[in-house]
Amino acid sequence: MAIRKIREEGDALLLKKSRPVTDFNDRLHTLLDDMRETLLQADGVGLAAPQVGVLRRAVIVMDTSLEDKSPEEQIIELINPEIVEFDGEQKGPEGCLSVPGVYGLVERPNHVRVRAQDRFGNWFEAEGTGLTARCFCHEIDHLDGHLFTERSEKILSDEELEEYYGSKDED
Ligand code: NI
Repeated sequence: MAIRKIREEGDALLLKKSRPVTDFNDRLHTLLDDMRETLLQADGVGLAAPQVGVLRRAVIVMDTSLEDKSPEEQIIELINPEIVEFDGEQKGPEGCLSVPGVYGLVERPNHVRVRAQDRFGNWFEAEGTGLTARCFCHEIDHLDGHLFTERSEKILSDEELEEYYGSKDED
């Protein structure tokens, strides 16, 4: 496994549409293994293949609701993912490893169900609420060349961000 370089905003590749994954081979497995290591090292909650320079429809998302599991075990791999159901709404701060240090207010569905393939090509469904639902939407957006900054109604100042996260710190 290797840590890959994360592309940052301004890199034209991040605005391109990714192609479907058709070969569930060693090359895909190496990509996913590297993405896992890169995500854990960056302490993020999700990563899409285009962020490491590969224009293929593959993302990984941390299911942070699995609190009793290790970060490694919280990772869900989603190949050729599609949102098949969503409901509710949430509005809150969102960031991205490709836009370091910037957080914006973004509205997302509060509950999302996704259909995807695993690394061997088997179809499955996964669902998430709250942060996990936000993450599914955010990572799938990357596959279509969209960054959260396009969806954000307001970029948050440090003070505003603290207001959102401040109450959390008291837990
Ligand atoms: Ni992102």
